[in-house]
Amino acid sequence: MKRAFFFLFIFLAVAGDVWAQGRQQVDFNAGWRFKLADDLAFRRPDFKDSDWSSVVLPHDWSILSDFGAHFPAGNAGGALPGGTGWYRKNFQLGDADKGKKISIDFGGAYRYTEVWINGQYLGKHVNGYLSFSYDLTPYLRHGGQENTIAVRVDNSLQPNSRWYSGSGIYRDVHLTVTNPIHILREETFLTTPSLSKDKGTIRVRSKLNNSAQQAVNLHIRVLDAKGKSVAEKKTSVHHTQIDENIDVTTPAWWDVTAPNLYTVQLRVLHKDGAILDQVEYRIGFRTIAFDVNKGFYLNGRPLKMLGVCLHHDLGALGAAFNKSAAKRQLVLMQDMGVNAIRTAHNPPATELLDLCDELGLLVYNEAYDMWQKRKNKFDYHLDFKEHYITDLQAFVKRDRNHPSVVLWSIGNEIREQFDSTGTTLTKEMVKAVKQLDDTRPVTAALTENNWEKNFIGQAKALDVLGFNYKYADYDKLPREFVGVPLIASETTSGLQTRDVYDALHDTIQFWPASSKDKFVTNGNADFTVSAYDNVAAYWGTSHERAWLEVKKRDFLGGIFVWTGFDYLGEPVPYPFPARSSYYGIVDLAGFPKDVYYMYQSEWTDKDVLHVLPHWNWTVGDTVDVWAYYNRAEDVELFLNGKSLGKARKTNEQLHAAWKVPFEPGELKVVKYRKGKSAQEVIKRTAGKAAKLQTEVAYERFTTGDQRDLYFVTVQLLDAEGIPVVDQDIELTFSTDADHEVVGTDNGFQADLSGLTNTTRKTFKGKALAIVRKKGKSAKGMMTVTSRLGEKQVQFGAGK
Ligand code: GAL
Repeated sequence: MKRAFFFLFIFLAVAGDVWAQGRQQVDFNAGWRFKLADDLAFRRPDFKDSDWSSVVLPHDWSILSDFGAHFPAGNAGGALPGGTGWYRKNFQLGDADKGKKISIDFGGAYRYTEVWINGQYLGKHVNGYLSFSYDLTPYLRHGGQENTIAVRVDNSLQPNSRWYSGSGIYRDVHLTVTNPIHILREETFLTTPSLSKDKGTIRVRSKLNNSAQQAVNLHIRVLDAKGKSVAEKKTSVHHTQIDENIDVTTPAWWDVTAPNLYTVQLRVLHKDGAILDQVEYRIGFRTIAFDVNKGFYLNGRPLKMLGVCLHHDLGALGAAFNKSAAKRQLVLMQDMGVNAIRTAHNPPATELLDLCDELGLLVYNEAYDMWQKRKNKFDYHLDFKEHYITDLQAFVKRDRNHPSVVLWSIGNEIREQFDSTGTTLTKEMVKAVKQLDDTRPVTAALTENNWEKNFIGQAKALDVLGFNYKYADYDKLPREFVGVPLIASETTSGLQTRDVYDALHDTIQFWPASSKDKFVTNGNADFTVSAYDNVAAYWGTSHERAWLEVKKRDFLGGIFVWTGFDYLGEPVPYPFPARSSYYGIVDLAGFPKDVYYMYQSEWTDKDVLHVLPHWNWTVGDTVDVWAYYNRAEDVELFLNGKSLGKARKTNEQLHAAWKVPFEPGELKVVKYRKGKSAQEVIKRTAGKAAKLQTEVAYERFTTGDQRDLYFVTVQLLDAEGIPVVDQDIELTFSTDADHEVVGTDNGFQADLSGLTNTTRKTFKGKALAIVRKKGKSAKGMMTVTSRLGEKQVQFGAGK
């Protein structure tokens, strides 16, 4: 009963707004009940769900489990359970909402999602990564009566993914309340057909739901970043089509260095002046172009896309989307020098695109990982035939107003490259995209290097050719055969565990193609992979090699490294217990591996000097010491005050290197610019773990959302405060009643304890806890308990 009152209150408050603005988007994430079971009786309004768990969306039920070898997704799918789950929610509507159109909008659910309102079946949504909506209007009860929405999400057919998918309603849900006459949001397409320093023309195309063809007024306003109106237009509309131009003088352009955004406001008014509807879109003034010889251009200036591929999971949060967690990933990438993201291999949360718009990141937006030919027994190939065009259309309509999106990809390593159906499908899909967006190039990430036999290439329909791996082919192929610009849509697939170092002679430099199985037997017994940049999947290369090959070719529009972050699933080269990937430049917990600084030294102008490995070895060991640096002639290494010589990087090797007979003490690297010391790094041999150092990251990753998270890092220190990397201890995290630990991690790919557990062992001296605000208090407190004692961590305002 208490619940019912709560919703009534919210709804009346909202209804008031609706009259004022014409439209309201209501956060519909709270107050759901969930059960991991399957029974059609759950759809019935009178079903008693009081013993179900209370959940707040976004929600991913898979991540709540410990890892296990027996789950049918396999370790490629993250070694976590699938299954079928149901969500139910009751809510009331006031009489003020009568006559309104009310729809429910799902940002994404994995997968096969069926929805009932008050027992009435609304339909089944198949694609696990696209947004979808249902009109609830005809079935709703007003005047304070109960409405029941029931959602069945079926992820029981496994395996269905080459990576961890997550299960459930893992993105936001909203209710949208409009008047019968309203703008069809997904039909709006904002372009900038003419753009100069002095003037930017915005073309506004949209459609009105206005079946009676009532004459209404349309008011278009453009607001700058400060909310100041910079252009306005008033006109009247007698039909359903909107097609207007509006000019902005001296527009501030959107760029990767200055992501200037404008808000375009469309307001529909009744002849008597009442607002019938109002929608807002953010746009950017920018131009993009690709050139066969010169690569990518942003705003008329050549710019290599320095990109990474990212899967959609957010580490310990699983697939459950959280904007601050996504921002953390993007900001860490941007700090490294990244200016582009490839959404491997599916449509992302729209909030991720909002972040890219705001941060100034270019997006290579990808639709599919397979077409009709499967990669897994139960993957989307089962539904492809029925849905591939409509899903692609929904994808383009959803994302085409984001300035960050610069490329549409119709697929990754699609098997139809190898047969003639690939040609027909490519043509069809490119046409479908172009009908909805003629301003962005269409690409696909291909692997077949024999162009006579590449049937996707044969279609000659792609504007830009994505080519994965095989850098030796960059010079030979596409420009001559296909005649379109080329990007390195995927490279590298380097393998590393953070802070693990095998002596270089013990690891494999580049794998011969035949050594896939051999590697596993040659791998480390503890399922780690050395973090010197010298191990890769047999189809990949070191990070340095991949970047060097792209760097020296101007015609390559960009590089997209596999991958920016470790992700759940695909733990090549190991079997279970490995359960997450080794490919990331940053580990699953968000701790950078050493190679992060190779990129930072190459891709940014920040002063970089990073030294590896740690300095806890055994006397008698010969240790490979590397330094990544920039903005200097050379670097010099000192061991306990004695110089071991200067070293430098070369055109073919992007780090300085020394071989050092270990002796405990102090290792120092000094970087020289114009002969003078410009930066130095010291590493000391650590003693026994004695205390915990904690650090809270929040401000850099906040998005202004109540759901923003705290990311608390714990580092083991010895008695003198030197970071400890060769001992690990168990930590237990607890918080005050207004907060909650929602995830813990240490970045190790074969740690089997579930990622939502509140106890976590450090790995190489580090662990992470993710904390959510539950209550109203802006201040919070966490306690970390371990055999080294208790440590209190404060967060929130006034800390
Ligand atoms: C690529 C593929 C990616 C990932 C990667 C791992 O071929 O496109 O999805 O599987 O290999 O190395």
